[in-house]
Amino acid sequence: MMISMESAVLKLPSSLRTISPKPNLTNRTLRTATFASSASASAPSPLSTDPQLGPGSLGHLTRPDFPILHQEVNGKRLVYLDNAATSQKPAAVVDALRNYYELYNSNVHRGIHYLSAKATDEYELARQKVANFINASGCREIVFTRNATEAINLVAYSWGLSNLKDGDEVILTIAEHHSAIVPWQFVAQKTGAVLKFVNLGEDEVPDVEKLREMITKRAKLVVVHHVSNVLASVLPIDQVVSWAHDVGAKVLVDACQSVPHMVVDVRSLDADFLVASSHKMCGPTGIGFLYGKSELLSSMPPFLGGGEMIADVYLDHSTYAEPPSKFEAGTPAIGEAIGLGTAIDYLSAIGMQKIHEYEVELANYLYDRLSSVPSVRVYGPKPSRSVTRAALCSFNAEDVHPTDIATFLDQQHGVAIRSGHHCAQPLHRYLGVNASARASLHFYNTKEDVDDFISSLSDTINFFASFK
Ligand SMILES: Cc1ncc(COP(=O)(O)O)c(C=O)c1O
Repeated sequence: MMISMESAVLKLPSSLRTISPKPNLTNRTLRTATFASSASASAPSPLSTDPQLGPGSLGHLTRPDFPILHQEVNGKRLVYLDNAATSQKPAAVVDALRNYYELYNSNVHRGIHYLSAKATDEYELARQKVANFINASGCREIVFTRNATEAINLVAYSWGLSNLKDGDEVILTIAEHHSAIVPWQFVAQKTGAVLKFVNLGEDEVPDVEKLREMITKRAKLVVVHHVSNVLASVLPIDQVVSWAHDVGAKVLVDACQSVPHMVVDVRSLDADFLVASSHKMCGPTGIGFLYGKSELLSSMPPFLGGGEMIADVYLDHSTYAEPPSKFEAGTPAIGEAIGLGTAIDYLSAIGMQKIHEYEVELANYLYDRLSSVPSVRVYGPKPSRSVTRAALCSFNAEDVHPTDIATFLDQQHGVAIRSGHHCAQPLHRYLGVNASARASLHFYNTKEDVDDFISSLSDTINFFASFK
């Protein structure tokens, strides 16, 4: 049966009735659904970017591709600055999900009928897109997981439990996300391995020299973020990997905040494991991936047991499939993987280098403006010619709780930022605070978004100061 979607319109759920999307978006017709490769359905608006932040910037050119951004929240233009928590999705990704469910929803790998074959092809094509995006040597090095957290748990339970023993050291920094700390605490409790944490240096960046000193022969694994979700700092992963490899240790890179924003090449980094989440890179929630060097994945035991991950099952034992299937027990998130593939097409059509260059400019602009607001303290390094910050700022304002800042910004100004510990409690303790506010940008943000945020923040700080 052919399903025509030509006349289908984008419907907002009733829960969003207070929100007023621009008329051209409510009337936007969905692309005709075809079984053409999702790449063709995902090209972003044509770009002739000028590297500046003015009209014609990457942000201005790509904003129209993101339906959700064109609405009012609490009577104000939505300014979405919570991208480090989750990014927004271009229409092409929403369409890819819809196409899957409307046109070829079916289980993968085990059906021989048309829909199942189609779903399997698209699911495996998505894996190939992830592999190409991070320059893995092949699809077998990409395991789909629910998110980055599950990918780290996979490495912890599979590689960690079978390779670490009493006294072995796992080296981390205090700036790791909880997802990169807690699984290793489980493993340490079970194996007797020791977790060692590197503090920050004076520049409020993990102390790389100390990190180098801590990577001794006792170290079996180094677990580090690429870009900090709080400090906006960038670690020199290639150097960390070479220090670790010199003593025979493996490296797991938490690339959640780098893969969506810059070129990440696993072969040039030479990382052993690398994880990321789709929802932070313009793709759907419910899907992430683990990159693992082929020989490592082959040597690792399964993480979860069940269908899909087996070669043969007997009553008393089973044999396992080759990676990546060995690590993908049960029915996977099929539509979500396909949506992730479409997000990768979208990002690649813009170019990750172009995204990065634009975001660096936006990051500097955000930092300059925010650090000039009286009573505001921005965490992390000061940007300079040699120090690049990611496009996010965690900060506190004197005498105002970050949750009050975030609430006031949302309710009075339609500005969405985050407050709390950002899943980095050890880091916040080290900084001497329980929580911070965080504004985080993506390439579809503009200079005007930053300007609106700064003027709204000044208004917020003045409002709370008036009660003193
Ligand atoms: C640096 C970092 N690591 C790990 C995660 C966990 O990602 P997820 O919740 O998608 O598994 C996040 C999410 O905020 C993050 O920013």
